[in-house]
Formats: sequence, structure tokens, C-alpha cells
Amino acid sequence: MSGRLSDAWLEELRSRVSLEEVVSEYVPLKQKGRRFWGCCPFHNEKTPSFSVDSESQLYYCFGCHKGGTVINFVMDLERMEFMDAVRFLAERAHMELPERTAQPGEARVTRDEREQMYEANRLAARYFHSLLWTDEGADALNYLYGRGLNDSDIRRFGLGASPKGWDGLLRHLEDQGFEPGLLEKAGLVVRREDRLYDMFRGRVMFPIISAQGRVLGFGGRAMGEAQPKYLNTAETPVFNKRLGLYALNFAQKERSVGRLVLVEGYMDTVSLRKHGVQGVVATLGTALTEEQARLMKRYAPEVWISYDGDAAGQKAALRALDIFDRQGIPAKVIDYPAGMDPDDFIKARGLGGFEALVKLDSTSYRMLRAKDDLDLATQDGMTQYALRCCAILKQVKSPVEMENHLRQLVNETGYDREILLRQIGVSPAQSTGAVARRPRRNQSELTGVEKAEQELISMLAAGLIPAELLKPEDFTNDDHQRLAEWLIAGNAAGAYISGIEDDAERARAMRALNFAPLPEEREKALEVAQEDLRTLRDTRRRQRQNEYKQKVDALSQEEKLAILRQIDAANRESES
Ligand code: CTP
Ligand code: MN
Repeated sequence: MSGRLSDAWLEELRSRVSLEEVVSEYVPLKQKGRRFWGCCPFHNEKTPSFSVDSESQLYYCFGCHKGGTVINFVMDLERMEFMDAVRFLAERAHMELPERTAQPGEARVTRDEREQMYEANRLAARYFHSLLWTDEGADALNYLYGRGLNDSDIRRFGLGASPKGWDGLLRHLEDQGFEPGLLEKAGLVVRREDRLYDMFRGRVMFPIISAQGRVLGFGGRAMGEAQPKYLNTAETPVFNKRLGLYALNFAQKERSVGRLVLVEGYMDTVSLRKHGVQGVVATLGTALTEEQARLMKRYAPEVWISYDGDAAGQKAALRALDIFDRQGIPAKVIDYPAGMDPDDFIKARGLGGFEALVKLDSTSYRMLRAKDDLDLATQDGMTQYALRCCAILKQVKSPVEMENHLRQLVNETGYDREILLRQIGVSPAQSTGAVARRPRRNQSELTGVEKAEQELISMLAAGLIPAELLKPEDFTNDDHQRLAEWLIAGNAAGAYISGIEDDAERARAMRALNFAPLPEEREKALEVAQEDLRTLRDTRRRQRQNEYKQKVDALSQEEKLAILRQIDAANRESES
């Protein structure tokens, strides 16, 4: 995966960013000795079992056993791919990524070509827009008027019309000196049976413009019943549907609004904005992605999900809530009256109507949807509803919020609050946060051998015992043996961990490196190590004895006699 980055470059990156600094942006940490402690961001807990070792620059959770380097941390928490995490950290460390070399089979796209694509897109948008005021675009213009937009709206969003013929745009851009091959790569032109023609024909055009003001691609709406209703630019070197958002060019200037409104469609965006709603953005013809959610986090501290008021929109809203939850973005949901979409709603009720709409917090919205297919007039329906809500409330972390929803549930269902709390799985003591537990020690579930091996590795990594004391062969577990060999040779644990791509394997190594509690003094550590080594050697001897015994037991009477005779003969030979 890290194929094109050298180990040395990655090592440099890891040494330039401080793990405790990165982690503290997500979790408050308290220093104790060389370790920093905090509540684990990967699992739900109230007392800190998550630790950052400032020396090895590795993190480890004693509760859920997740651990690794700063790159693993960013990948896990931001749900980034390896290269994205590296890019993210490199930016932070002010390090340039090494020159990108094209992978075999990958078409090389130069910076210059990308610039040309942006320029072709920009000229295409201008061309589409200008057509609206000609005969060729007359019905597109009427279509837009029919949808309630005026000339000033149309100009503000740069809307346009694509020509009805086969190659109006192709010829227009060729006249401006663009190579057809480049236009094809930019998704403006498509090739079929060796003929090139325009991708968008006879459609109303919505240009998709980046925060930096560059035209990335287009959405084109059919005017009649032509299919598909919307056609979007395919993936190109400058357009990635999963990463971008529609109307980000406006949102860029509206950060002070303090929230984004996420809608399903281009028309919803234009319409809400026309009526004065700020911060409206849409996905680009696809369902919301984790990447888009993270992008939104950069523009506002909160998101209002404003999807269509139909079954599909409601389902998509629940899915979007899960994504925002995972990304740690507070999200609310607007539940439009049945069958309405934001465009219909704002046309009917105006900006005042939109502002007066209730924005439901995620738990309330999930509880609302839990009723959808149930008949609450029946006992069975009510029971189902209570059970579903309790499952939803399990995820609520804030005691105050929990209390609000709990009261609502008591009122709605008539169940006793103690019963509901028990179903949710929160004991009254826990809900007041009174019990503080020590981090779980990890030796309790281990066999003697596992304990000894982990303890030795941890003491070695912590510099408590000399490497000469140990040999790789002392370790029976393959993972432990490899790790021990690495450490005995005098290498750092961090470099070993960063070379492991498999999550489970990394977790095992991190576990071995973090045995607790360790002796504090070297003298004591030496004693503990001798004891561990004795355990390992005794176990090995017992295993060997067992093996021999089994071998002997498996022999027949004759075979045993034959061996005894051989031994006899050998003895006599040595005597003579
Ligand atoms: N979409 C798409 N391809 C389709 C249908 C929809 O890419 N064949 C995307 C478009 O981004 C569209 C969004 O999904 O804007 C929402 O679809 P839909 O609700 O059908 O369209 P509206 O935005 O409501 O458009 P209109 O009001 O013009 O019908
Ligand atoms: Mn719609």
C-alpha cells in the first residue's frame, strides 16, 4: 500500500508530527510519566484506558486493544485511506509528498492537462449559459422560468442549456484550440464507435463549481420525460462525485452562518437559496459519502439534513445520520410534510416557513422513524416501539440528553423509567457517573506463557531489561518471536508497528508491547524477567517431554525392542 513512499520518508513524517498533539485534538489527555492518558475514542468508556506513549510515539487502548502509529490513528478516526492520512499529516508537518510516479496502466495526467480541463469546463459553462438567450436554448429558459426562477437566479447559479445537436460544444471548444482527446478526458465529450459527440444534449445545465471557483463538472436535467432525469459528468481527473458538493462555492463565503443545510438535489439547492436560505449544499447525484461529511465539517460545526419527505428521503436521512455520527458531526433533521421536497416546501411557505420548521436532533429523529411501521394502538406495537427506542438510547452519551428522551419515552409508552433504564442497559449508578474503574489489566485472560511473553516484550521495549537476556527462540508465539527479534536487534517499536498493515496483527503486537502493570525498577524487572524465562523454558521442556513420550507410546512392542537393541549395539561399539 505504501509502495511509492520510502520507509525513510514515512519515518521522517512520523517523527515530525507529535502523536500526543494529534490525539489531543480529539481526546483530552493527561500526562503521567512518559504516557498520556484519555478516554478511548474508539470505544465507549467513562474512565481512561487509552494511552499515548510519548517515547515510542505509539498509542494503545487497554480496553479495546486498538493501537498503532499516528498514521493508523488518523486512518481509524478520520476513516481515511492510507494515502489520505499520509497527505493529511504531511500537510500538517509541512512536508512535500515525493514526486508522484504513474502506476503501470494509469494514464498520466499532468498538472498542465488538469488546468486545461478546468479551462474547458469554464468555457463550456459559459457556452451553455449563453445558449439560454438564443433560440437553441429557448425551451430550457422557459423550463427554468416554469420552475420559478428569474434571470437573476439563472445568472447567479450560472445555469445553462446544452445544444440539441450532436457536437455543438465539441465544435465550439475545438474552435478555441482544445484537443478532442482532452475534452473526452474531461467528460465533456464521449466516444462511440470512433465518433465523438457531446455528452450533454438538450438538457438544462447546472455547473458544479469548487470552493476555489473552478468548474469541475455538470449536472444536466432532462426537460421532458427523457431518461435519465439527471445526467452527471463521469469521474474525471478533476471531478470526483464522492468528494465534492454542489454549491460549495457559495458555502465558502457563508461560514458565519454556523450550519450547512444538506439537500438531495440541484433544484432544491437553487430554490432554497433563491428564497434566502444560506449554507445549502447537495451531493452530486450520489448518496452521501464519509468524505463529503468530513468536507462539510470544514465549513460548519453543524449540519441540517433536509432530504425529500418521502420514504426514500427518510431512509437516506437515517443513513446520513449514521455517517455524521461516525464523523462526530452534530446533525439535525428536517422532516418535511409527506411527499414534499425542499423546493416544493419553500415555494409554498417561503423563508419564514422554512425557519419555523422543527429541526430534530438525531435521537428524536431516529425515535420518530422507529414508529413508521408500527401500530402504537396495540400493545405489541407499543412494546416494539419501546424496544427500538431503548436500542437507540443506548448510543446516547450525554446524561442530560438521555434524561430528555427518557422522559418522552416514559410519557409515550407508559413504561416505568427504571424498566426502560434496565432495557437500555444503564445502571442508575453508571448514569450518575459515580463508579470509576481502573483500566482493565490484560493478564487476567492470558495463559502463563502468553503473559510471560508479553511481559518480557513490554519490559524490553521500555528499556527495563537488557536485550542480551533474551533470545528470539524463547518465544513460542510467531508474532511475539518476530517482534522480539526486532527489539533484541536494537530497533524501535514504532518502526515495527508502522510496517504492519493488518489490523489484527497490529493489535496483537500492540498488546504485547503494552503489558501492564510493569515493575518500575530495573532490579525488580530483572527478577520478573528471570521468572518469566523460567516459565517459558519449563513449559518448553514439558512440551518436549510430552512429545517424546507420545512418540514412544506410539511405537509397537517390536519397534521399542529394536531401538533398545540399537542402543545396546552402539554402547558395545564405543566400548571396543
Ligand atoms: N439524480 C441523479 N440521477 C437521476 C435522478 C436523480 O443524479 N436519474 C440526483 C440529482 O443530483 C438530483 C438528485 O439526485 O438533483 C435528486 O433527485 P430527484 O429528487 O429525482 O430530483 P430533484 O432534485 O427533485 O429534481 P427535480 O425537482 O428537477 O425533479
Ligand atoms: Mn427531489
